[in-house]
Amino acid sequence: MPRIFSVGLLSLLPIFLAVYLAWCQPEQLQEQLRGLQHAFWDKTPSANSANPAHDIEKPMPFVRRIIAVGDLHGDIGNAQKVLQMAKVVDENGDWSGNVDFFVQTGDIIDRGDDTIKLFAWMDKLRQQAPAKGGQVLSHLGNHEWMNAIGDWRYVWPTEIDTFGGSDKRQEVIMTGWIGKTWAANYTTTSRLPLHPSLGPPNTDYPPASPRANAPSPISHAAISFVHGGLAPTYPHLTPFPSHINRISSSLLSKLQNRRPFPPPHPPHPYPGLPRDATPEEERLYGTDGPLWYRGWALDPEESSCRQVDDVLNRTGTRRMIMGHTPDFDKIVSRCNGKILIIDTGISHAYGGVLSALSIVYTLTPVDSAANTKTWVEKEVITALYMDGHEVLAEDTRAIVGNIDIA
Ligand SMILES: *[C@@H]1O[C@H](CO)[C@@H](O)[C@H](O)[C@H]1NC(C)=O
Ligand SMILES: *[C@@H]1O[C@H](CO)[C@@H](O)[C@H](O)[C@H]1NC(C)=O
Repeated sequence: MPRIFSVGLLSLLPIFLAVYLAWCQPEQLQEQLRGLQHAFWDKTPSANSANPAHDIEKPMPFVRRIIAVGDLHGDIGNAQKVLQMAKVVDENGDWSGNVDFFVQTGDIIDRGDDTIKLFAWMDKLRQQAPAKGGQVLSHLGNHEWMNAIGDWRYVWPTEIDTFGGSDKRQEVIMTGWIGKTWAANYTTTSRLPLHPSLGPPNTDYPPASPRANAPSPISHAAISFVHGGLAPTYPHLTPFPSHINRISSSLLSKLQNRRPFPPPHPPHPYPGLPRDATPEEERLYGTDGPLWYRGWALDPEESSCRQVDDVLNRTGTRRMIMGHTPDFDKIVSRCNGKILIIDTGISHAYGGVLSALSIVYTLTPVDSAANTKTWVEKEVITALYMDGHEVLAEDTRAIVGNIDIA
């Protein structure tokens, strides 16, 4: 193994610390970091080797690529265009292997005909992804919940025929394959760590095990996904995301076990939640609950930015990504990308813009020693459109600390 001269590295540490302190100036910092990385590699001595090229083992960055897509509302044609544009799938709609995570934030059903095709496709991708090291994270939106409740106000009239009628539709979405995949493969929210040392998707924050409570510079290197939003007033945020998802599973199970199923509204009366729903389950479906909340999208940005850090801190995340409140022109980034609203009305029912959000995380050790304590961490958040892209946030920082990269 070639050895990096530790004297060279140590002499750079004060510079990194200085840069770390100045990280609130991202543009300038990135320049400095680029310069530093360059200087470091250019100066690395080639220890008595006949072949210097083999002597310098450049440290490998860890890279994680995530694509998130918002409300699809019954339009598989536009959904295919979006996933292909974002390189999640190939032209046949099969998992491409180009991304590590594909996340959909709910509202696949209603306002269009393609309910069956879309849920079947999501299951196909979920099955294909692991063979290429990928994973699909699916969420229930308020429209999936409305259908589970028996609130069919937004069901597209011709969509009912694709199931073979109203009774058949109710059976499939409640106890048939769609109801089953909702219960097994969909959650109301998720927490996606950006680095594997923080655990697999949906590892709780605060961490359950005391060992994991050791301060880590990347403890909050994670993103939350939800359909509506994680309101500052919502009382069941933590531990995140298991508290919300436990309430969600329990409510879905009560809805799926209602007998007889309430006849669909309209023309029948709105059935509401089951009589034995708990106050926690009522609150989940309430206006400040994760399915319906619109505050992060509609409140003045100034007040959102005052409140966002507290929610991020409590949920162990750096950004919150949500759908539900459409902007038909663009993905909305607020508070320097801490709030990202990705519903752009993709379905032809709205005729909005076709979009996907890309998150690329890299963590690069500054030297190749196994016990390195200095890293360059970078998050690039980009809105992807059919005719171009826009970088919404680019954060780079030098960090010092122990990161378990086993
Ligand atoms: C969950 O998704 C997997 C992968 O697509 C699928 O094989 C499985 O049937 C789904 N689970 C249920 C209960 O539908
Ligand atoms: C973050 O939360 C911890 C407790 O979990 C608290 O001690 C700390 O003050 C909070 N920091 C901010 C910036 O809110």
